[in-house]
This record gives sequence, structure tokens and C-alpha cells, in this order.
Amino acid sequence: MSSYSTISSTVKKLTTRDLRNWKKNPIRPQISALTCYDFQTAQLLNETNLDIILVGDSLGNVILGYDHTISVELGEMEIFGKAVRRGAPDKFLIMDMPFGTYATFNQGVENCLRLFQTCRAEAVKLEGAFPHVLEIISRITDSGVPVMGHIGLIPQSVHALGGHYQHGKNEASRERLLREAQSLEKAGVFAIVLECIEKNVAAEITALVTVPTIGIGAGQSVDGQILVINDLLKMGPNRPPKFCQPVADFYSLKKEAITQYLETLNLPPTPTIHNEICHLHS
Ligand code: KIV
Repeated sequence: MSSYSTISSTVKKLTTRDLRNWKKNPIRPQISALTCYDFQTAQLLNETNLDIILVGDSLGNVILGYDHTISVELGEMEIFGKAVRRGAPDKFLIMDMPFGTYATFNQGVENCLRLFQTCRAEAVKLEGAFPHVLEIISRITDSGVPVMGHIGLIPQSVHALGGHYQHGKNEASRERLLREAQSLEKAGVFAIVLECIEKNVAAEITALVTVPTIGIGAGQSVDGQILVINDLLKMGPNRPPKFCQPVADFYSLKKEAITQYLETLNLPPTPTIHNEICHLHS
């Protein structure tokens, strides 16, 4: 076994069938989902009870340092998706389709099949419920590619929406969200992400559709929660979004550890493990 081998999960991998039947179970647990972008974090998640890993295009923000997700390309998603698959073979893996890769029907079908196949994912996620997106969803689900929908704040449309804000706050927005959720269900999605949606409207959508809803900034009356792992662990210097309460502060921890290590470099040499390893190799 190489020192980089993944430890198998003891938890059974979720299937789309489990998810489609989720709401039939009166004592169902909340669905847990986190984003992930790299091999070693995927190895760690593989050993936990987490239900779903999403290789989100949020990697554009937290891994690649872009201003928004619009800059993320298909090839970039492929690199991170393959790494996560290698690290977490036992988890239900969803690949986010990046901006511009499903702007037309033919291109969308082709690119969804490509990302699903090359990353050996269990599903893909598309943003919005625009007519051509619904058509792509119907076609690819018929071809064996399960799809998760995503409505509310859809970051790839941030310019068209006019910024980041909560959805469902007025009647027109509420009605639109209810309509979109129903259209996505009809098109064949197995679950729907509800991002930044007023909590009562999120609850209403959850009661309306038979597939599970997975919320992010959409209150507690949903079927599951998804978060960006870098926000949950506070990996960066900035405050995570308001709806995310970090469970750790890895940015400070790492900074402190590296600062301490740098200080040891200026201490007089001692027979540390580092020195012994160097000796072995000389
Ligand atoms: O890209 C992403 O991380 C997402 C989640 C926030 C749902 O789409």
C-alpha cells in the first residue's frame, strides 16, 4: 500500500435511487453535502459519513482565485474532478457544469457526457431552469446521466441577475421559484439545490416537489444542506458568507504552524528528524 492510498469507507455509497426515494421515508435524516476540490481532502471525506461530494465551480473562487465562477473552464473542472474521484471512490460524486459549457443544446449534451464520463462521476449539476437547460436535462437523464438542479442565486448568472441577493422575497420571485422547481422535477432531476432563498419559500418548494431539496442559505426546512468546504473550515483570510458558521479556523491554524516552523529554522541545529532523514539520504 502506498502512503497515498485511500482508506475505504465503511458507509454504503448513496445512489440516485436512494435520493429519489428519500422523501418516502418518514424518519429520513438530513442529506449532507460538501464541496471538495483535491485528492487529500477527498480521501478524508471518503472516511466520513458524508452523503454527497460536489466538485463545485466555486473552485474558481476558493482554489483558482478568480473573481467569480464565470471564468472556470471545462478542462479545469476535469482536473479537479478526477483528483477528487481518485481520493473518494466510495462517495456519491457530482460534477458542476461550468459557465458556457451548456449554453446550447448540442454543446450542453456533449459536455455533460464528457465531464460525467472522464471524472467517473455519479451525476452532474446545472444551474437554472431556462428552457434549453430543461431540454438538456431531459436528454442526458434519458442517456443515463443523473442531474441535480440549482435555483435561486445561480452564481453563473450573477451579471444577468444584477448581483448576489436573496431570492423569493416578493411574490413574483416566489412564483418563479416554485415554477422552476416543478419544471426541473418534470425534466428529471433527482435533487435540487436551493441557494440563498427566503426560508419560507424554500420550505414551500420542499413541500411541493417529490425530489429532495438541498439548501445553502435557504433555512432549515429543506431535505439537506450543502456548504463550500473552504467556508466551513475557514481556509481563507476572509469571513465566510453569513449563512455559514465555520467549525474551525484552518487559516489561522496553518498560519501559526508555518510561522512557528519558520522560527525553528533560525535555531541552532539539533538532531531532529529532518537532520536524520537528510543523513540517511547522503
Ligand atoms: O459551486 C458550488 O460550490 C455550488 C454550491 C455552493 C451549491 O454550486
